[in-house]
Amino acid sequence: MLSVSTYLHYSAVASQAGEYAAVVIDVLRATTTICAALESGADGLIPVDSEESAYDTANRLSSAGEAVALGGERGGYKIPGFHFGNSPLEYSPVEFSDKTIIHLTTNGTAAIKKMGAAVSLYTAAFVNLAATAQALARLEIPIIIVCSGSNGSPCYEDTLCAGGLINEMRKIRDIDIDDTSLIAADLYDRNICNIEVVLRDNCEHGRYLASIGFEEDVAYASRLNLFDFAVKLKSGVLVKDDAKS
Ligand code: MLT
Repeated sequence: MLSVSTYLHYSAVASQAGEYAAVVIDVLRATTTICAALESGADGLIPVDSEESAYDTANRLSSAGEAVALGGERGGYKIPGFHFGNSPLEYSPVEFSDKTIIHLTTNGTAAIKKMGAAVSLYTAAFVNLAATAQALARLEIPIIIVCSGSNGSPCYEDTLCAGGLINEMRKIRDIDIDDTSLIAADLYDRNICNIEVVLRDNCEHGRYLASIGFEEDVAYASRLNLFDFAVKLKSGVLVKDDAKS
């Protein structure tokens, strides 16, 4: 049976290569913003884990004639010198069509980079929950769900989304889940009708984002299945997953 394990913080995952698929979640806001950018026509997003790597990557691609933009945050705010921050609402079709985004965020892209040794790597958020579950349910190798967390600790919104993913997968096929996955799935069952309120009023990072003017981002990130595509890493670039059963 397909096995699914959940890690509530990416630092708990040993970064060894292996026959497993990883799905990284950072609901507020990296993996939500990745979906928004792809929906807006971005060619793809290259996750990086430092400013130096962001600029190196941008220079390399620009020299090869690719249109690139730098997007990312520190402390929730746009990084000085970058073109865009990490708000999904910034990523409009006009700005991003046919560009590759170099994406740097505090926890989300760090978690994605850490999981680079997985055979397949997906990112997920509430906005593409069902499509991600469909893609994962087609796999026949162990799946690990990796929550990015916040400031070195697990966070509520990523755990909730992990639970949603597990419950969506369970609708499609039988899966063998660990206790952490069970905790996440139970949490989701308790909150399914209340996601926006929980993210805005209870979660630490949701309250923080609202306090610095990003309340609309929290509402956006709470929307279920806004997009019908999964997101997969291909040759170091996050793109819409075109695989269908
Ligand atoms: C992160 O990676 O820590 C987040 O996406 C931060 C944010 O932009 O809210």
